[in-house]
Amino acid sequence: MAISSRKFFSLPEIKPRHRHIFARIKENRWRLLLAMLGSFMMAVTNVSIAYFIKDVVDDIFVLQDRRMLALMPVVTIILFSVRGVGYYTQEYFMHFAGQRIIKNLRDTLYDKLMDLPLSFFQGERTGALMSRITWDVNLVRDMVSRAVTSSMRDFFSILGLIGLIFYLDWRLAFYAIVVLPLAYFPVVFFGRLVRKVSTRSQEAMEQVSAFLQETFSGSKIVRAFGMEDREKERFFAKTQGYFKLEIKAAIAKSASSPIMEFLAGLGIAFVIWYGGSAVIEGAKTPGELMSFLAAVLMLYDPVKKLTYLNNSLQEGMAATDRIFDLIERENPIKEAASPKALEHRPHTVEFESVSFAYDNDTLVLKDISFAVDPGQVIALVGMSGGGKTSLVNLVPRFFDVTGGALKIDGIDIRELSIENLRSQIAIVTQEPILFNDTVAANIAYGKPDATDQQVVAAAKAAYAHDFVTSFEKGYNSVIGELGGRISGGEKQRLCIARALLKDAPILILDEATSSLDTQAERLVQKALENLMEGRTCFVIAHRLSTVRHADRILVISGGSIVEQGTHDCLMNNCGEYSRLHALQFALDGDEAPGGKTETGP
Ligand SMILES: Nc1ncnc2c1ncn2[C@@H]1O[C@H](COP(=O)(O)OP(=O)(O)OP(=O)(O)O)[C@@H](O)[C@H]1O
Ligand SMILES: [Mg+2]
Repeated sequence: MAISSRKFFSLPEIKPRHRHIFARIKENRWRLLLAMLGSFMMAVTNVSIAYFIKDVVDDIFVLQDRRMLALMPVVTIILFSVRGVGYYTQEYFMHFAGQRIIKNLRDTLYDKLMDLPLSFFQGERTGALMSRITWDVNLVRDMVSRAVTSSMRDFFSILGLIGLIFYLDWRLAFYAIVVLPLAYFPVVFFGRLVRKVSTRSQEAMEQVSAFLQETFSGSKIVRAFGMEDREKERFFAKTQGYFKLEIKAAIAKSASSPIMEFLAGLGIAFVIWYGGSAVIEGAKTPGELMSFLAAVLMLYDPVKKLTYLNNSLQEGMAATDRIFDLIERENPIKEAASPKALEHRPHTVEFESVSFAYDNDTLVLKDISFAVDPGQVIALVGMSGGGKTSLVNLVPRFFDVTGGALKIDGIDIRELSIENLRSQIAIVTQEPILFNDTVAANIAYGKPDATDQQVVAAAKAAYAHDFVTSFEKGYNSVIGELGGRISGGEKQRLCIARALLKDAPILILDEATSSLDTQAERLVQKALENLMEGRTCFVIAHRLSTVRHADRILVISGGSIVEQGTHDCLMNNCGEYSRLHALQFALDGDEAPGGKTETGP
């Protein structure tokens, strides 16, 4: 066929992402070569089998040669055995290489995703990402193993069989395969369709997994609001959509078959007619015709398979694109060219006219300036949605400032090594997040070499020891197995223990004690106060009683600092703080307000 293979399979232009796959293929070249050797063995035996049919028919059936009768069964057994070994070699090495390439691609993808900033995960659906790592990557494997190895076997077979039929009768061979190039058009046309449908079906699968992830993790809410039937319907609609696309894909994948089969039938019919008349006229032996016919029959099979190859190529390319859309994501949180490192000691943290926006439109923080000295406790209070969490998120560079600068010991944090910066910070986030591992492993998260004593000490300091030991397996209880047994406040205390164990010079507590009752909060608060000693602390709290003793209180509202000072100073100001305080006081009817007050708009 004169058409270049690239055009034949309608390959798109080679992009860096494809180079990445080629590089992986290259890494596995020895395995792939061995797989090809297996393919080659199979191709050789296929051609030999077709060739020996001539001897079987002419020498055994027609001439009744007893020597050949004894020889041919032996040859047949040898050929089939070689074919078996060839098949095993091809399959083993092909899968080995394919799976390795896929492992590598999955690892690259995970490696990349783990390094992407928080903003990325807030913009993506977890289930959708999972679908790419599990599902799409498989399609790439199909592409690699089929395109690289099965196609090699088919290619060798095609080459060998074409050689054989031309050797047997070049004129007849010419007519037998002259129709084949016509197959180009349906293959290319339907190949494009496969790619289009495949992209959509991968997207549909992504929707299905995202939906599953969301409804499973939110199963409590689904039940609480009686939405089971509605969610079922929505799920059925999604699987129906996927089903339709897969049917479309199946049609596109096999639609070229009728045309291919027709062309094959045409060629074979011609061989029977033309070859048959040659046999009748005595110009050809029956064995020669049978051999020729077997070769042509065997030839059409790998040619048809090239269609499937094109299909998996198209599906794989679609999946590659979707995977590399993630791998090629830019990380806006960049490591400095020559990153500096901080020593492990108390630090000054300085906000210099910091402004910040999540998307470039609305500023969530405006012109924030303040400094916290080593060992100082700074409290952030104010209306819900005021920007407190956003503000502390800037310190570990979960997000970068939009304007101004954030400095630690006078160094802009963007000049610090991200790893070093984060190693200086322990954080208790607003939502308590634990992993499905033992209680001890959760507390020691980030410090896997911590001793049991250290873990217990941290748990004791966070007032978690008592409830942990009440579990049947104590510190070895697995969070997931505890299921509903662990309360919101208990989770929070484990998160505090985890932060305490990290023993970092900067401590960030975002509503760390909000789920605790007043009694427990006071105890934990005391423990925290001891630990805050000598550390630079940011404490966010809605309950103003929590922050009474802070060195300085910042009242954040609408992204700005509206007031600052000590508790007493702010109380005398008759401003926002005293208003919030009065509100909590009125609701609690208690001298030291305790309950969490909804101060939000
Ligand atoms: N990931 C995000 N993308 C876009 N906007 C966000 C994001 N997170 C928060 N915001 C917006 O930024 C503003 C400040 O939110 P932030 O979470 O910092 O408030 P907060 O003071 O911590 O409130 P709360 O006391 O309720 O925790 C809000 O208007 C919020 O809608
Ligand atoms: Mg918050």
